[in-house]
Amino acid sequence: MPHSAKRVTVTGAAGQICYSLLFRLAKGDVFGPDQPVILQLLEIPQALPAVRGVVMELEDCAFPLLAGVVVTDDPAVAFRDTDAAFLIGARPRSKGMERRDLLLANAEIFKVQGQALDKAARREARVIVVGNPANTNAAILAANAPGFPTENITAMLRLDHNRALSQFAAKAGVPVGSLDRVAVWGNHSPTMFPDWRFATANGKSLPDLIGDGDWYKSKLIPTVAQRGTAVIEARGASSAASAANAAIDHMRDWFQGTNGRWVSMGVPSDGSYGIPKGLICGVPVTCTPGQYHRVTGLPIDEFARSMLDRTIGELKEELAAIAKS
Ligand code: NAD
Ligand code: LMR
Repeated sequence: MPHSAKRVTVTGAAGQICYSLLFRLAKGDVFGPDQPVILQLLEIPQALPAVRGVVMELEDCAFPLLAGVVVTDDPAVAFRDTDAAFLIGARPRSKGMERRDLLLANAEIFKVQGQALDKAARREARVIVVGNPANTNAAILAANAPGFPTENITAMLRLDHNRALSQFAAKAGVPVGSLDRVAVWGNHSPTMFPDWRFATANGKSLPDLIGDGDWYKSKLIPTVAQRGTAVIEARGASSAASAANAAIDHMRDWFQGTNGRWVSMGVPSDGSYGIPKGLICGVPVTCTPGQYHRVTGLPIDEFARSMLDRTIGELKEELAAIAKS
């Protein structure tokens, strides 16, 4: 029996990330090769002509799974009956600009979209926020969607997770696919905490295999934390294809499961690990189809505690800055 089409909301559809993401969504990279999708694309009015150009290209790919495309500047239309939402539209950080400068402008965007999500989306919809500052935007979205299940609103830490995997694999001289139990905690910002304490390569301790605690602290952590800035410096624009790939990974794993493998997701805190409720914070999770499950009961040593407290502190400050404005 053919599946009925899933409605997928994507915001910022004329932007760089979407120029990669939309084609992979239509190809079946999130929901699998048997699941048709209807794309519901939201943009600001000035960018609608550009979205129509992207839609022409989608048509020209003749994707068998693409069952329809809606283009709109009305959030209520974009979120109507949606099953999955990729919230990408926001102003990206450009060279020399701090992410904090973006806080207030983006808070307004995510307030309006939270209200539309609340009114129009299916309660089962799964939401990923990519637009920066992603964790705080997701918290604002949740606060403005009181009738929508908060646990279905997440922020993207997967790019940081993938960046860490790649650096670990190169240092250890092992394939990326052999790694598991890597975690990235906290904010998608330079305060994030890539944690290798539980990581394995082919089931063996990764820290033991690498055997270089100085490299981990003085090289790995800053490299992963500053990678977004390094890409901006090199490209003159923020990461796009790798960000789209990470969003695809995040939603594919949430909808299809990870078979016990750890991934990092920004999820609404349940108070564990000393992360206050109300924050949307990166933690290690596993997924079964449609659900994420926090990895619970991990020991937090002194170093991990200080790293966690720093990134939690930043998340609290971001929310406080918006509350004050
Ligand atoms: P971009 O500027 O190329 O595209 C953003 C698009 O969003 C633009 O077309 C803009 O018109 C649109 N937009 C702005 N306000 C909107 C609104 N209210 N509704 C709908 N659309 C709106 O940027 P990009 O490179 O695609 O990046 C998008 C966002 O993703 C940025 O905030 C960037 O910082 C962020 N990002 C996050 C991660 C992550 O790991 N979480 C990684 C890379 C980039
Ligand atoms: C990234 O991590 O590549 C982006 O979030 C870039 C940025 O704006 O910091």
